[in-house]
Amino acid sequence: MPKVTWMIEGRDPIVADVAVGQSLMEAAQDNDVPNISGDCGGCLSCATCHVVVDDAWSSKTGAPDGVETSMLECTESPAEPSSRLSCQIFMTDDLDGLVLRVPGE
Ligand code: FES
Repeated sequence: MPKVTWMIEGRDPIVADVAVGQSLMEAAQDNDVPNISGDCGGCLSCATCHVVVDDAWSSKTGAPDGVETSMLECTESPAEPSSRLSCQIFMTDDLDGLVLRVPGE
């Protein structure tokens, strides 16, 4: 299974296998990643699943669409150029090794 690493300031990274097709918000919840509450369940209406994609991976995860871009204005920590809402990123084999930073929110 492909792996994802979540980097959290002041803590050890969390590394987990993630099933292909699973959203990275759900994967974060399954692995007790802090600061990703996913309050809306992934329907793109809460912005509580904010992550910053490592620069080396942002071309593979792609850019947010218009609705996600609007929601990124509602994050607790200011959005950065490679910010995404992790409920909108779905695991693929190509994302094996993906590194995400979790803003301290
Ligand atoms: Fe609500 Fe991602 S879980 S916008």
